[in-house]
Amino acid sequence: MGNDKTEILDQVRAYHQNNVTSGFIPGVTPVMASGAVLDENDRVALVEAALDMRIAAGVSSRRFERALAKYFGLRKAHLTNSGSSANLLAVSALTSHQLEDSRLVPGDEVVTVAAGFPTTVNPILQNGLVPVFVDVELGTYNASVERIEQAIGPRTKAIMIAHALGNPFAVQEMAQLASDRGLFLIEDNCDALGSTYRGQLTGTFGDMATESFYPAHHITMGEGGCVLTDNMVLARIVESMRDWGRDCWCEPGEDNRCFKRFEQQMGTLPEGYDHKYIFSHIGYNLKSTDLQAALGLNQLTRIDDFGTARRHNWARLRAGLDGVPHLLLPEPTPDSDPSWFGFAITVLDDAPFAPKELIDHLESAKVATRRFFAGNLTRHPAYQEREFRVSGPLTNSDTMAEATFWIGVFPGLTDEMLDHSIATLTEFATRHR
Ligand SMILES: Cc1ncc(COP(=O)(O)O)c(C=O)c1O
Repeated sequence: MGNDKTEILDQVRAYHQNNVTSGFIPGVTPVMASGAVLDENDRVALVEAALDMRIAAGVSSRRFERALAKYFGLRKAHLTNSGSSANLLAVSALTSHQLEDSRLVPGDEVVTVAAGFPTTVNPILQNGLVPVFVDVELGTYNASVERIEQAIGPRTKAIMIAHALGNPFAVQEMAQLASDRGLFLIEDNCDALGSTYRGQLTGTFGDMATESFYPAHHITMGEGGCVLTDNMVLARIVESMRDWGRDCWCEPGEDNRCFKRFEQQMGTLPEGYDHKYIFSHIGYNLKSTDLQAALGLNQLTRIDDFGTARRHNWARLRAGLDGVPHLLLPEPTPDSDPSWFGFAITVLDDAPFAPKELIDHLESAKVATRRFFAGNLTRHPAYQEREFRVSGPLTNSDTMAEATFWIGVFPGLTDEMLDHSIATLTEFATRHR
């Protein structure tokens, strides 16, 4: 049987090598905005997990959690089925009765930014909390600490923001602000795996951080995400809420890790009620599978190479587009080294062309564009009837809804592809000088 498996996996490698596509024709082959970069080891990892029929969360999931926590130098990582689920768990954890007086209760506020991805904000609403939206700066696309500080009110209990397209916000100062004002800080690190601020990985400054492993992100599991924390109380709450709300932390198939399985009395349950079926939170099931984790474990070995490629690609676009008229090019936050998610461009007000004309031109030249997610979330149908507070004008978020988009820097792009993106943008913008 062992030999059969080796033979099958050898065939998988051969299959992979025979199915590698190559060759780039400018204007014909798409220059994608993002995508998974999968090699033969990824394919083998997936098939091996399938051969072993590890269909639920299991040994690879636990290994991945340990490896990711180690990468960040944090005590705990909890795998989830998406980055959105990770965000839901991180915010929900702050409402746990186990946090006693510091728990968030309905009506409490969480400061966030208007220009971002919806599921950074939705868990705030889903927990009966009130988002307080602030504006961001054009260029870095992050909110300043000053803007966040001005938004803090008597009911503000937490700050939750994403590092914009991989570009860190001033997270050390933000963590200091949170600590000075007695607030929780959640870093949505979904677009910034491997970015650093003052030499320290983003995702390690806040009380919790989240990751996404969707194919567009720095490493992938297909679908997947993670909640990271150094705080063991929060870690236990996240795990409980992820796993149906249960109080017990035995793995499925494992019994009595706490050595008190039949020796506790909780709630109004009878003495000795099986701890495996005692629920201490109104939980979910947001777990992922071992098939996903097996892929993630292999992807994790390439995290530094992926980061190097993303930085190289971003720098090539930045140098190649320098001086092109009518475009605001992105800037890294001072003291940061971003592992970029995308390359953001804002069409300046004085441009003799509409942003949509440029986007259409790029798309017709097969250079894929993406909007800066929601642009300004408060303008979307989903948020019209919702309770939120806005602190200060959202002028730049409006500009982002109207004139900002991003193009790809992911490791699957070659210099030739990036040069096609540069040439297409340059030709269009200078033609309209
Ligand atoms: C900043 C940010 N947060 C959260 C998410 C959600 O991640 P997922 O797609 O894994 O749910 C995304 C998705 O791209 C994102 O960009």
